[in-house]
Amino acid sequence: MDFKLAVANEIMTAIGAVYGDVEITAKDIAGALEVPPDTAMGDYAFPCFKLAKPLRKSPVMIADALAGAIHADFLSRAEAVKGYLNFFIDRATYAEKVIGQALHDGERYGADDSGAGKTVVLDYSSINIAKRFHIGHLSTTMIGNSLYRLHKFFGWNAVGVNHLGDWGTQFGKMIAAYKRWGDHDTVAAGGVDEMVKLYVRFNQEAKADPALDDEGRMWFKRIEDGNPEALEIFNWFKSVTLKDAERVYDMLGVKFDSYAGESFYNDKMQPIIDDLRAKGLLKEDKGAQIVDLQEYGMPPALILRSDGATLYITRDLAAAKYRKDTYNFDKSLYVVAYQQDLHFRQLFKVLELMGYDWYSQCEHVAFGMVSFGGESLSTREGRVVYLDELLTQAIEKARAIIEEKSPDLEDKDEVARQVGIGAVVFFDLYNNRIKDIDFTWERALNFDGETGPYVQYTHARACSVLRRAGDADAACPDFSALSDPYSQDVVRFIEQFPDILKSAVNRSEPSMVTRFAVDLAQAFNKFYYENKVMVDDPGTRAARLQLTAATRQVLKQALYLIGVEAPERM
Ligand code: ARG
Repeated sequence: MDFKLAVANEIMTAIGAVYGDVEITAKDIAGALEVPPDTAMGDYAFPCFKLAKPLRKSPVMIADALAGAIHADFLSRAEAVKGYLNFFIDRATYAEKVIGQALHDGERYGADDSGAGKTVVLDYSSINIAKRFHIGHLSTTMIGNSLYRLHKFFGWNAVGVNHLGDWGTQFGKMIAAYKRWGDHDTVAAGGVDEMVKLYVRFNQEAKADPALDDEGRMWFKRIEDGNPEALEIFNWFKSVTLKDAERVYDMLGVKFDSYAGESFYNDKMQPIIDDLRAKGLLKEDKGAQIVDLQEYGMPPALILRSDGATLYITRDLAAAKYRKDTYNFDKSLYVVAYQQDLHFRQLFKVLELMGYDWYSQCEHVAFGMVSFGGESLSTREGRVVYLDELLTQAIEKARAIIEEKSPDLEDKDEVARQVGIGAVVFFDLYNNRIKDIDFTWERALNFDGETGPYVQYTHARACSVLRRAGDADAACPDFSALSDPYSQDVVRFIEQFPDILKSAVNRSEPSMVTRFAVDLAQAFNKFYYENKVMVDDPGTRAARLQLTAATRQVLKQALYLIGVEAPERM
């Protein structure tokens, strides 16, 4: 039941009864309805000055007249106060309708089919080959994963793309280093770490012996020319990196539909370059080919280097076109750090200049940096925090806390995994995505803070209440038992869930869901503290159990949508 609309309809009817035909629609009225800052002033307020002009009467008179004409079962009263009409929704009806809707819709509560028939392509995580997965790639992975789930929830066809960084001269150097000092078994055993070691050694030795750089270039050229040996080694490096990354993706519960990365576009750039040239957009600049963007206040987009090599943006142009041609998306999201803001503005502008009107369907979903305990992450200074190590530590720490809090819990290992990883993911998605975040264990794992473990714990508490109740909720619920402010707060949050999810999708902002989960958990814990659930009166007990069941369900769904698991016991 949409209470806002119901109130608006009541106002419409009252206007008709008192004044006859007036030119105003229920939609206009719903749009003008306000939510008073204090519930003592009602749940909705209608400012009657909106009607002063068409009715040529004072707001005070209008409010008084209308108040007398309003009688609806779902309202406990309507009051005229200084030109406002204040509406008080009947608390029992409110609780009954909201909880009824949530439990009736179950896992689909909050969803609609607004995305049916539409496709969204999401470019997220997009890691680089031969580099360890560090926490710099956590946000893109988890924001992307959440947006993927949110879109699916609303019926979108979602395509998750991991646009691998698998192109560049560094791969030639890596092969040169491997040929000189590496061997198959060491790399197979050591994985990405071993590749990084080879690369670091190459760069060190190249300082003294510039001939090495020629070797690196030669191998890169061979990759480009499709030399079988070069390709074989390169593809093997790639599969080793992906195997490492997949371990992390498994831990995080993240999936992709495509791993088409930069190298995938090797043979798809020429048509783009030809097209740019045919449209008169390419300009020569010291031997290089650029698209001049000065007019738009941006530096030029470098399309081809003077040696003919393509660039990051050349590949992204080909990728954008390929995605449109292949998936015919309605929306194409790039979940990439805000440092690449200029790159994406240039990319979208060039697409626009090429006459692709779908440029406007592309969006850069930017996010801030993650630091760790106040230190930024720099590979060069060796202060990198690797994601798999971070997650493993999180699990160990969660395990220790669980050991202390719930020594008798069964499957402690499984719960520790869910809580440890949940804590990291939740923390990452807690703030507005554009904000920089500083990760600390104390804040992420605090069971009493605004954290994943806190929400998970609240969910587990609701599960435990319901388990202990058995079938005590079979009685007919007396929803007037939910008229107290604590119960009403919980109901209000549950009612807001659908709108929160819609905004989260529209703004590509998973943190709205994360914050909501904390709000609902806090409201439920207050309710739980103030109200005993297992009271003798069966009607009251059944109503409180239904509130608990709806809370459990919505918390679980909210956690799922941000990529966090919800253990039933903690
Ligand atoms: N691999 C890049 C990086 O780690 C991100 C790629 C983002 N996606 C894209 N289509 N440019 O910075």
